[in-house]
Amino acid sequence: MQWEKSDAFEPGDHGNKPFAIRIPSLLVSRGSSGPPNFLTAMWFTPAGAEPSRTVVAISKSTHTYGLVNETREFVLSAPTQKMMDVVVFAGRASGRDVNKFEEAGLTPVQPSKISVPLIGEANGNVEFKVVNQFPLDDEIDLFIGEVMAVHIRKGTMHGELYREDANPLLYMGTKYDEQGKSLGKHYGKLSGIEVVDYESPLLKKHVTRK
Ligand SMILES: Cc1cc2nc3c(=O)[nH]c(=O)nc-3n(C[C@H](O)[C@H](O)[C@H](O)COP(=O)(O)O)c2cc1C
Repeated sequence: MQWEKSDAFEPGDHGNKPFAIRIPSLLVSRGSSGPPNFLTAMWFTPAGAEPSRTVVAISKSTHTYGLVNETREFVLSAPTQKMMDVVVFAGRASGRDVNKFEEAGLTPVQPSKISVPLIGEANGNVEFKVVNQFPLDDEIDLFIGEVMAVHIRKGTMHGELYREDANPLLYMGTKYDEQGKSLGKHYGKLSGIEVVDYESPLLKKHVTRK
């Protein structure tokens, strides 16, 4: 097979950015004392189906890091479009300085399997217990969470799929001007869901079941 040269691409700054359009998470935690807390997290990814696990990278500089290490539990919460300011706030402010639930006017909701609250205003909340932890470097640890319970807002999803009229918040990243000055964080809206065309020549040839 001949490899072609292409001028369709140019160098980019951030390796993980082409994959960044996704729902951000509010990672909720609590310690043995003090109020529960949450931070904005984008460094997380599903890993494994049965048992269902998620890897999340948590910076040691955060208040969250100490809390998760204390209880070995956390909640990942999926924000709605209305929660855009909460997501920005939770990614800047620290639970060391402010009570984020109170400041953001969010409702802590009773969990079912762990001791960390859910966020009442979110589209979904997943309860995790930490089953493993690895250092990524001097500043960040990877935590492996195993799903203990899943709570989806009524009317939001059909099985695994968001409904067309659901309102998940999509993270797009920061926009910069020509001098590299930030023009702010940008978020997107869900604007269409479609089923795969299983009749496409490629899928008809290689994929026999949906
Ligand atoms: C879009 C976005 C994504 C972020 N993702 C993460 C993340 O996955 N892990 C992390 O440790 N910090 C992440 N941060 C930074 C924390 O949210 C931030 O340091 C926060 O203020 C820490 O709060 P805490 O001290 O209350 O734990 C992110 C920030 C933003 C704005």
